[in-house]
Amino acid sequence: MNKKQHIFPLCKKSIGLLIVFGLFSCGRLKEESTFKIGFSQCVSNDAWRKTMEEEMSRELSFYPELSLIYKDAQGNSTLQIQQVRELVAEGIDLLIISPNESEPLTPIVEEVFQSGIPVIVVDRKISSNLFTTYIGGNNYEIGFTAGQYIKNLPHGNGKILEIWGLKGSSPAIERHLGLIEGLKGSNMEIVSQISGEWEKDTARSKLKSHLSAALIPEFDLIFGHNDVMTIGAFEICRGIGLKGKKFIGVDALPGPYGGIQAISEGILDASFFYPTGGDKAIEIARKVLYQEPIEKEYILQTSVVDSSNVRVIKQQTDKILDQQVNIIRQQEMIENQVKIYQNQRGLLIVFGITLFVAIASLAYVFKSLKDKQEINQELEEKNLEILKQQEKILDYAQKAEDATRFKLEFFTNISHEFRTPLTLIQGPVEELLQRKDTPDIKNDLLLIQKNTNRLLGLVNQLMDFRKIDHQKMAVKASLQPIAPFIEDIMMAFGKTANDLQVHFKLITECPNLKVWFDTSMMDKVMFNLLSNSFKFVPAKGHVHIFIEEDPLPYEAVIKVVDNGPGMEKEEANNIFERFYQGKPGERKVGTGLGLALSKDLVTLHQGTITAYSSPGESTVFDVRLKLGNAHFKASELLNENPEPVYQHDETEIFNNRETEQGSLKGKAVSGQKILIVEDDPEIRSYLKKILEVHYEILEAEDPDIAWSILKDKIPDLVTCDLMLKNKDGLSLIKKIKEDALTSHIPIVIISAKEGQKDRILAVKLGIDDYFTKPFSPSLVLERIKALLDERKKLKEHYLHDLPFKNQNTQISTGDRKFTQLFKSLVELNISNPDFGVQDICQSLGLSKGQLYRKMKTNIGYSVNEYINKVRLKKARFLLSNKDFSIGDIAFQVGYKTAAYFSTAFKHEYGMKPSTYREKA
Ligand code: FRU
Repeated sequence: MNKKQHIFPLCKKSIGLLIVFGLFSCGRLKEESTFKIGFSQCVSNDAWRKTMEEEMSRELSFYPELSLIYKDAQGNSTLQIQQVRELVAEGIDLLIISPNESEPLTPIVEEVFQSGIPVIVVDRKISSNLFTTYIGGNNYEIGFTAGQYIKNLPHGNGKILEIWGLKGSSPAIERHLGLIEGLKGSNMEIVSQISGEWEKDTARSKLKSHLSAALIPEFDLIFGHNDVMTIGAFEICRGIGLKGKKFIGVDALPGPYGGIQAISEGILDASFFYPTGGDKAIEIARKVLYQEPIEKEYILQTSVVDSSNVRVIKQQTDKILDQQVNIIRQQEMIENQVKIYQNQRGLLIVFGITLFVAIASLAYVFKSLKDKQEINQELEEKNLEILKQQEKILDYAQKAEDATRFKLEFFTNISHEFRTPLTLIQGPVEELLQRKDTPDIKNDLLLIQKNTNRLLGLVNQLMDFRKIDHQKMAVKASLQPIAPFIEDIMMAFGKTANDLQVHFKLITECPNLKVWFDTSMMDKVMFNLLSNSFKFVPAKGHVHIFIEEDPLPYEAVIKVVDNGPGMEKEEANNIFERFYQGKPGERKVGTGLGLALSKDLVTLHQGTITAYSSPGESTVFDVRLKLGNAHFKASELLNENPEPVYQHDETEIFNNRETEQGSLKGKAVSGQKILIVEDDPEIRSYLKKILEVHYEILEAEDPDIAWSILKDKIPDLVTCDLMLKNKDGLSLIKKIKEDALTSHIPIVIISAKEGQKDRILAVKLGIDDYFTKPFSPSLVLERIKALLDERKKLKEHYLHDLPFKNQNTQISTGDRKFTQLFKSLVELNISNPDFGVQDICQSLGLSKGQLYRKMKTNIGYSVNEYINKVRLKKARFLLSNKDFSIGDIAFQVGYKTAAYFSTAFKHEYGMKPSTYREKA
């Protein structure tokens, strides 16, 4: 998914979340109720109850944390009990109840109270104290006041018709009892009682039917337990033409249908104000819920309303009603405003959030665009750079290709040109070799022949490569028994194997296995593999060839195994790479052509060739050729017999193994010894050939062997290559020059290194001459001769012609070493006048007695005699050089004064140093 695709769902998601959060926030503005109040109303179809509920809701509007669940029992006590249970089940925190009847409702009120829910009883009572608080008017007092009021009416004698509220409800009972009590002491008496059950219609019908049935005696006044029933009674009386009766009720409600209005209209004569206590109930409920202190009873005030005060009271109550209407309207307006405010606030929040998200998204989009632009620019720059680089690479590739082509063409041309002279050399050499009059140069001729063959082989390999590269090398496969074919090639290595005592064998369980291959190509492959093995197999080692048939991939497997030094895995993996040279000292040496060509030739057969090896372990060359001929094109198959392949002879096998490491085979001619330090066996052999006529030759192929020969034989001269297998020739030279035993030996470098740096390093170490390969043998020989002659002359002049007592007898190597060391020490310290027996004993680790004996046996002089003679000899040599004064010479040869030197010189040579100089 790209970035852009990713952003938008994310944005959408965030915006959605924020809007939901916004709406949720505005929802939260309308605070949730914290307390649930259950209100069980006994009945609700009259104005008094409505007033009560309005008061409650007005009061509730001040406490938004309170909510009210309202239930109307419709004057049915059983229903009210059930509804209370429902309220409790709804999880109310407090119950307000106006019980329909006392007795039936008492148990449920007690139960709720005892369950821990506070209970406020309003208006009507229960017959128990198990509730939280009671709020309502004093009904007994109302009844009593009514009795008193009636008693005090003018013409106080009279008969009273009492219309009861519900008989089981406490206000009805209390009002009745109060009335009786209030009437006491008067002539007034209750002549009849009917049950209006608090309802106008009930009161009306009961009164009507009683009157018509003449069940009611004569009466002067009707006292109804509430106004509505009393008004109903008035209407009945008026309806039947009963006049002159007085009507007194309870409630004195304001409003068009209330008692106050009825009084002012002359319907009622009086009424007793009976407050509903709706507002008070909510106020107290809140206190209870907030656990504020409350009282057990709140008795609301009552008062009488009649014609004497109805005007004032009506005005007041109307005003109050108006105000209440206003208040209600204002409340509604406030509520509307709050709603609008809440909505607007919600919208504002949503808008704010949306704006924020929009700005954030815009910023993000802007930044993304900017980033994109930057990235695009960067990409463009990179593209440009890449394009430039590509162009450069193409250019380089073209140049490299051209260069390679030119090189290959050059090599091919050169190879062609080499072939002619090489063939021209080859022929005469062979002829010369046949002749019997050339035995003394036979070795030289063999060397020429061998190297001519070698060069021809290399040139042919180069040309094969060229052909393979140009797809001009086509396989001409014929079906051949592979074992005899390989045995033929093996014959060329017979002599080498014999000389080296190498166990050389073909091992196979399928001697008759026939394989389709190009005989000429496979000849080259096998020859190269065997050449490689014989280059590295040690004397008395083994080279084994295994031929196997692998049925599963259906292949012929040819393995050439030798126990040469082995090689690293990495080397084995690279060994078939063209021109791969390998690390110095590793198994792979030479041009790296033979094995690479072998691989190409095997690949042309659609076969594989792999080398397996590790240092110190056998090396295995594994060649796999597919059996059958299905893998060859028709043009690659040869139907007739192939031409016989070229017969190899041992002169082609270039790894001349005839000189073993460090062997001593030279012929002593001059008696002088030359140590040849050279790792290339052929060059070593060639040098030996040149020098062995004149000198005894010692050979070493690496510095360690060279050093042990040097210490042991102390040769007269060393020729040394600078690159000796993995080792450095310079360190050997340094060692030679630093050791007293060998420091005098002249060193001639014969190296392939042409660099000025190596030459300077070598000269600094004190070498005597430096030849680079290819070298002129005669020049090397002449230079060596000159160096040795020079050394000889020098000795004659001043040192080594000193007579030895036993000079004609054979001296042991140990004594030769002693003599050499002794001479070197004297030479090194010749200018030190204090040098003597003590120093020599210390340096050579000999006691004075041992030194004395050695001197006697090997030199024939005492130490001091010898030193003195050497000093004078050197002085005589130096006197022939006019650059030094006699004083200087005396000092150089270790005399403390010129006079003493002069005396000693005269004693030795019969003349003063100055006279000698004149004569010299
Ligand atoms: C209203 C009413 C009132 C009366 C009260 C007694 O339902 O009948 O008129 O005063 O109930 O509970």
